[in-house]
Amino acid sequence: MENRSLVTIANHSKERILYLLEMAQEFEKQPNRHLLDQKIVATLFFEPSTRTRLSFETAANRLGAKVIGFTDPKVTSSSKGETLKDTIMMVSNYADIIVMRHYLEGAARYASEIAPVPIVNAGDGANQHPSQTMLDLYSIYKTQGTLENLNIYLVGDLKYGRTVHSLLMAMRHFNPTFHFVAPNELRMPEEYKLYCKEYHIRYEEHSDFTEETIADADILYMTRVQRERFTDLMEYERVKDVYILHNKMLEHTRPNLRILHPLPRVNEIAYDVDSNPKAYYIQQARNGLYAREAILCDVLGITLDEIKADTERLMNI
Ligand code: CP
Repeated sequence: MENRSLVTIANHSKERILYLLEMAQEFEKQPNRHLLDQKIVATLFFEPSTRTRLSFETAANRLGAKVIGFTDPKVTSSSKGETLKDTIMMVSNYADIIVMRHYLEGAARYASEIAPVPIVNAGDGANQHPSQTMLDLYSIYKTQGTLENLNIYLVGDLKYGRTVHSLLMAMRHFNPTFHFVAPNELRMPEEYKLYCKEYHIRYEEHSDFTEETIADADILYMTRVQRERFTDLMEYERVKDVYILHNKMLEHTRPNLRILHPLPRVNEIAYDVDSNPKAYYIQQARNGLYAREAILCDVLGITLDEIKADTERLMNI
């Protein structure tokens, strides 16, 4: 049987990404459906989450599925020494699809190779966060009217930030110019810069974060410095507040600029930015519902044509 797991965005073609975005658009028109009646979605979160888990669970509920899972591995038998393999095989007995967040890079790939049901990677260490990327792309498309030829500024923790790693890979189809804004300790890892070179993605690196730096940005993608990934907490203390976006920095930015953040934020966006019409991070998180409805349907083999037919049917009731 074809493995329909979503482990990484790297192997998604442009057509496939646009197809999933069109699906998300259908779900935005009508989030409540019966497309997954009788299905069980398992959400296994070995790391904390608010948005990813709750939006996946909301997506499942709005589509008629039932949800099982855990939010804290300490209350599961992994705390007694059960391996990830055994946990995945057990849950596959109960669920039609497993959404998993794990602290180990590669955990989702491993799970997808052993599980008889599809795996959706809800974040694996500092590696990938493909469902976040789908909602980020959907947010960019909605706010810019295109994914093509954009100036995208990635700011903050580019070393450990799995959301920026996934986004960079997905954008290779759309001729972006990236600006990597990070302190020396948190610069974009070499492997992703090599990826840019391989796919002819333009990028510039900056260590200053000023009004001038972001003057030509279409998308300003802020990220949190991820305390949980540091082995040296002194280093975290040194860099944690290195970049803070304030409202006054936005005065001379482009009118089409939108500020994204995968959230949670800590200090990197001041609260005075929230009321600026260029702030889009709360709507961005809402788009996660539609993107994740699309992902659940897609990995379970429901096509865009079926979803469009369902939209048509609902509109005629
Ligand atoms: N963006 C994101 O992954 O948020 P959570 O950690 O709250 O799921």
